[in-house]
Amino acid sequence: MCGLSFRNITALAPMVRVGTLPMRLLALDYGADVVYCEELIDIKMAKCQRVVNEVLDTVDFVAPDERVMFRTCEREKDRVVFQMGTADPDRALIVAKLVEQDVAAVDVNMGCPKEYSTKGGMGAALLSDPDKIVAILQKLVSGVSIPVTCKIRILPSLEETVSLVRRIEKTGVAAVAVHGRLKEERPRHPLHLDHIQAAARAVSIPVIANGGSLDLVKTNSDIEAFRRASGASSVMLARAAMWNASVFMEGGPLPLEAVMEDYLKHAIRYNNHAFNTKYCLCQMLRDKVESPLGKQLQAAQTTQEISEAFGLQEFYQQIQDQLQVKRNSLQSCSQL
Ligand code: FNR
Repeated sequence: MCGLSFRNITALAPMVRVGTLPMRLLALDYGADVVYCEELIDIKMAKCQRVVNEVLDTVDFVAPDERVMFRTCEREKDRVVFQMGTADPDRALIVAKLVEQDVAAVDVNMGCPKEYSTKGGMGAALLSDPDKIVAILQKLVSGVSIPVTCKIRILPSLEETVSLVRRIEKTGVAAVAVHGRLKEERPRHPLHLDHIQAAARAVSIPVIANGGSLDLVKTNSDIEAFRRASGASSVMLARAAMWNASVFMEGGPLPLEAVMEDYLKHAIRYNNHAFNTKYCLCQMLRDKVESPLGKQLQAAQTTQEISEAFGLQEFYQQIQDQLQVKRNSLQSCSQL
């Protein structure tokens, strides 16, 4: 297997609604090595069409109702990991094949405890069905040419966690991310570093430590400390990155205002859905969501209004003009 390495990397974790293209590009700008997309459900993805968007310079996976489920671009091609929710090896392979030429790796979510994931036997439900885990991963590893990874939560005993990662390693995956919490535990519960340490000792593939955002990783230098403490090869950050993605930057984080502006520029440039942009900016504001800026953001309904709230109306207009020029030239080419 060749391609993306998961050894000694720092990754943006998969996050539903948060891990869309603007956030992934922002994390890359600030120094993340690898960026995971939000979990996308196999049944929905399998119905998508791959469309080259020549105006935006992106590749879009578009649902029958015209919704863009996954948008990616050349800039992240060697760094983006496509995470899917699946409980079915055949369907998982169909989706992996669909995105294979546009992403650096595919990942299977085996840790999400939310109902929309577990109800179909996906996410954390897979943890109680290791044979299914093995079947899905083997099918993917033998069926695609890019690396395959998975993200798990820990099991009740160290022995169980270790035995699971050993079985996972045997499938030929390139890495395993371990969120050091039980599936019943909430993000505020303390992390079980001992499970991540035991997993890292038990296998020779890279283990990616996850779950340190709340109390262990606040600044860039904490990332290395977390890596050492966990004994893992790599680190994956969700909430710390969602709150301020410049945590990936040496010497970071930057002031939130600068980060929000950088984020919004990507959202404008890639025509991100306004509701998604607003959601991500609100997550960044956290307890400042009731501030004057927060209120203006909450009232905004379009990307133009969001841009105005951040004083980026000129940038917004500039991009719209550029995109229009591109549309026009593509149209005249197609008429030749
Ligand atoms: C998540 N998490 C998550 N995990 C996953 O495998 N796929 C997903 O789509 C999501 N979605 C998601 C959304 C949001 C808003 C959050 C905060 C979290 C879990 C996440 O990847 C990670 O495992 C945990 O948040 C613990 O890591 P941190 O936050 O301590 O770095």
